[in-house]
Amino acid sequence: MKSSVQFEIIKDSLLQQQYAIQALREWNMEKQHSFHISTYGCQMNEHDSEKIAGILLQMGFVETHTQSQADVILFNTCAIRENAEMRVYGNVGHVKHYKEKNKDVIIGICGCMMQQPHVIETLKKSYPYVELIFGTHNFHQLPGYLYDIIFKNKKVIEVLKDSDYIIEDLPVSRREKIKSYINIMEGCNNYCTYCIVPFTRGRERSRAYTDIVEEVKKLVEDGVMEITLLGQNVNSYHGGCSFAELLTKLNDIENLHRIRFMTSHPKDLNDDVIDAMANLDKVCESLHLPVHSGSNRVLKKMNRSYTREKYLDTVEKIKKKIPNIALTTDIIIGFPGETMQDVEDTVDLIKKVDYDSAFTFIYSARQGTPAAKFEDDATEEEKHRRFEYMLEELNKGVILKNKQRLGNIYEVLVETYDEDTGICEGKSREFFRIKFKGNMDLVGKLVNVKITNPKYFSLEGEII
Ligand code: SAH
Ligand code: SF4
Ligand code: F3S
Repeated sequence: MKSSVQFEIIKDSLLQQQYAIQALREWNMEKQHSFHISTYGCQMNEHDSEKIAGILLQMGFVETHTQSQADVILFNTCAIRENAEMRVYGNVGHVKHYKEKNKDVIIGICGCMMQQPHVIETLKKSYPYVELIFGTHNFHQLPGYLYDIIFKNKKVIEVLKDSDYIIEDLPVSRREKIKSYINIMEGCNNYCTYCIVPFTRGRERSRAYTDIVEEVKKLVEDGVMEITLLGQNVNSYHGGCSFAELLTKLNDIENLHRIRFMTSHPKDLNDDVIDAMANLDKVCESLHLPVHSGSNRVLKKMNRSYTREKYLDTVEKIKKKIPNIALTTDIIIGFPGETMQDVEDTVDLIKKVDYDSAFTFIYSARQGTPAAKFEDDATEEEKHRRFEYMLEELNKGVILKNKQRLGNIYEVLVETYDEDTGICEGKSREFFRIKFKGNMDLVGKLVNVKITNPKYFSLEGEII
């Protein structure tokens, strides 16, 4: 048994974490324990899970891909829509029997859902076998939490409301060798009225550009060819330079091949960034620019701070400066008070922009957000009808655009090779998924592929 006296003295300090890491490393040397993480939600969460895995590996745990075999079962959750939350509750309910079979199994939940007090109450009441709960601001304290559970038989529930800083230098277990996510900022200050993110991720804060450049240089030394910069609104980045300047600094890194970023907020996407995208050779011709609605009335109620005219102007400017740009977006149907005319306005905007693809959602009321209190008179059936109509109109354009890619040549960064089928798969600079006949040696290489068979939503071709 480890000395809990010593542990108490150094509580809440970095030393405490280091002590816990050492103790758990020794514990894992006596008998190695495994962990499994289920991740829900966006790239931000995927990247947090890579860091959580990095911390666990540092403590001598080993990762297993079979949940039933894991000694520590974690769920990194998303709160963006109700169905994401329902899936988490269902899956946490499912692992109860692992705990019943083996009382030493530790079940933990973290991530965005935990930032909502009503979720913690539900978990305490209905899922008492969950021993570990932490939020988005304190996963770096995981060693101390596991120490408390394993050596002191405690249950840990610790969620911080907000944070002023971003923790640097956490170990990361990267899932992919040639591509990598980089957080450039955390949180969001925009408070779109439907969105829970400002409440789950806190206020906006940016990492220093020097830290970002250093991290990317190290990744490139490790063989990373493509990076994706992550933030809820990357255009308001302010970590010692502007976002356009950050792109320029990253573009200068030798042996880095591709730079992507998400998400851009239309209100902050200025000419500097458009010019940087047009002029910097490593910044890919792909832009995710969530519009959410084509109706000015709805955009105002959503607190999006732009009009459809301003959005269309921005799109026009982008297309002029970067003619081969691929544009994608997010659309929400069924926002409170939406009328059929608002949906028609959205469909009209979709046609004008001519998107390459889009993520489409039915509005989900989130407790604590302003829109949850707005009057909402459309039935769920009506919202589904509107959604299907919008999707059909959207897909007509997306499918047509894809068909027109026949004969085009794209540079593909090869990500996988399937031995059974002999098929390689990768992404073009425009973020099109492309399949072609190849071999194992091509993985991690840039090749040119000519499209011979454009499917509805994917592309097939041959290497040239
Ligand atoms: N910061 C990004 C991403 C936010 S979350 C942005 O500004 O776009 C990802 C997507 O989830 C959003 O773009 C939005 O389309 C969708 N979303 C957010 N809240 C939602 C809600 N309450 N109901 C349905 N979709 C929602
Ligand atoms: Fe949510 Fe709006 Fe912030 Fe995006 S910009 S995370 S939609 S509040
Ligand atoms: Fe992402 Fe979901 Fe949180 S979309 S920021 S994991 S609420």
